Amino acid sequence: MNEGELLSRVDRSKLPRHVAIIMDGNGRWASGRGLLRSAGHSAGVKTLKKILTTAVNLELEALTVYAFSTENWKRPLAEVDFLMHLFSEYLEREKREMHEKNVRIRFLGRTEDFSPLIQSQMRDAVELMKNNTGVKFNIAADYGGQDEIIRATQKLARKVSIGEIPAENITAEIFERELDTAGQPPVDLLIRTSGDMRLSNFLLWQG
Ligand code: FPP
Repeated sequence: MNEGELLSRVDRSKLPRHVAIIMDGNGRWASGRGLLRSAGHSAGVKTLKKILTTAVNLELEALTVYAFSTENWKRPLAEVDFLMHLFSEYLEREKREMHEKNVRIRFLGRTEDFSPLIQSQMRDAVELMKNNTGVKFNIAADYGGQDEIIRATQKLARKVSIGEIPAENITAEIFERELDTAGQPPVDLLIRTSGDMRLSNFLLWQG
């Protein structure tokens, strides 16, 4: 059955609203084939393109992918450099097509440790797609769930300290508004491509 036929058979009333993917196992996939780990990451990016296209075709509300964790900076420099290069190339190459598909991109996580080039590519992509109304596509990059919760707490603490909100008025709903995923539906399907069954600091609040 080809993809078109498969898509036409999907019962759209039973689809998840928000799918999240931990894109790992690339290194193991490549080693198992006698390839370099970098070949696994490149294959992962190709698969990501197919996944986003499917999300668009299924009209999913949100898709979040874990591209680079706060812990990933500790990997060998050559691997970090390669992942940065892939990320930059991916943004440059795909942003037009994403925009044509009405995708709205958002980045979850910190941005300040990325190179000035990548930071500007991230800003450009967000700006380009800011009025789009299709799939909300979140790329978690330099992201950690604990870090996100700490940053949200700091933002709220600042608001409390200047009297914008009394501490006792903080509810789960108000807290959520400070998270990187503010305004997006909760995750109802989490896929970890390696098959491991750990959350690894991904979307701790939203899961
Ligand atoms: C972790 O597992 C995966 C990564 C650190 C990288 C995932 C990133 C990409 C596929 C590309 C960059 C992102 C974008 C959006 C272009 P691993 O594959 O190192 O796992 P393993 O060593 O456990 O097999």
